Amino acid sequence: MATVDLKDVRKVYAGNVEAVKGVSIDIADGALCVLVGPSGCGKSTLLRMVAGLETITGGTVSIDGKVVNEIGPAERDIAMVFQNYALYPHMKVYDNMAYGLRNRGTPKDEIDRRVREAAETLELAHLLDRRPRELSGGQRQRVAMGRAIVRKPKVFLFDEPLSNLDAKLRGQMRVEIKNLQRSLGVTSVYVTHDQLEAMTLADTLVVMNAGVVEQAGAPLDIYEKPASTFVASFIGAPPMNMIPAGGDGHPEALAGAQTLGFRPEDARISTPAGEGGLTLAAVVEAVEPVGAESFLYCAAEGQHLVVRVAGRSGANIGDKLTVTTPREKLHWFDKAGRRVSA
Ligand SMILES: Nc1ncnc2c1ncn2[C@@H]1O[C@H](COP(=O)(O)OP(=O)(O)OP(=O)(O)O)[C@@H](O)[C@H]1O
Ligand SMILES: [Mg+2]
Repeated sequence: MATVDLKDVRKVYAGNVEAVKGVSIDIADGALCVLVGPSGCGKSTLLRMVAGLETITGGTVSIDGKVVNEIGPAERDIAMVFQNYALYPHMKVYDNMAYGLRNRGTPKDEIDRRVREAAETLELAHLLDRRPRELSGGQRQRVAMGRAIVRKPKVFLFDEPLSNLDAKLRGQMRVEIKNLQRSLGVTSVYVTHDQLEAMTLADTLVVMNAGVVEQAGAPLDIYEKPASTFVASFIGAPPMNMIPAGGDGHPEALAGAQTLGFRPEDARISTPAGEGGLTLAAVVEAVEPVGAESFLYCAAEGQHLVVRVAGRSGANIGDKLTVTTPREKLHWFDKAGRRVSA
């Protein structure tokens, strides 16, 4: 059990690449913190600094209240699961899972007990004699996970562990990781650039952009009140619609607001906007039926918008629609892209 605290952590790589520019995050004991952000924003760098695999240029990383900047990876009591989890191909599942413990000189019966316990938890008990090539992708991923959990570390670090799996398996594994993390209660940091994975896994979600934290908090709080246009367009799929504030049919802009945003699911077709709501004249450009719902891609005021409607939409390309959004569903952002609405 452990807390993980980052204080103004910085990383400058050789050649003056400023990858992490002062990140502070407090992770509670047993919590699952997800770092999400576009490629190159510094997620892996940050994780590797927590693991001790990368030197820290500035600031502090603390585990259980103790600064670990100068402590080597082996002494930090951390287990990491990578995207390329690289199992030993010639070793059986059992030996892959036991490897780390054997290296540390753990007694044989203790190793056996821990491996079997982890295999039970991960539903791998019947596969212990197989070799990695005789397993499915999801089973291999679970072995990689098993290798981490047998160590009973203070902290788990995951760097895009599911990105090699297909969509269905990713969904299953996501649920398994969440349950596993809950039941083991091990403080975890999970890196992904998949916003859906981030939303569903996180106790605390940290949205990063270009080496800084744009917003941190509970996933639904971030979804409902994105702190910037960057967060608004990164969290949620399809992303939030954005238009310049102040056009015809717009409510009076909040002081300092330049951009008006609304989510695809908050917009309505041909429904009065209500007091202070937004009304836009739109033309349908494309219709995307995905089963339970449809996405209407529209043009309005020179912008492209998406409206999410239930079931089949009945709309066709070229149809003229009135798109409305009630006032309480509007988001306002200033010139710098920062949220101005409450
Ligand atoms: N060893 C290195 N030397 C120099 N620059 C590096 C090194 N490793 C990473 N970088 C740079 O640091 C920045 C952050 O990289 P990082 O790998 O942390 O991004 P990331 O958020 O994990 O991206 P992705 O989602 O693509 O994995 C990038 O601009 C990258 O090019
Ligand atoms: Mg990365």
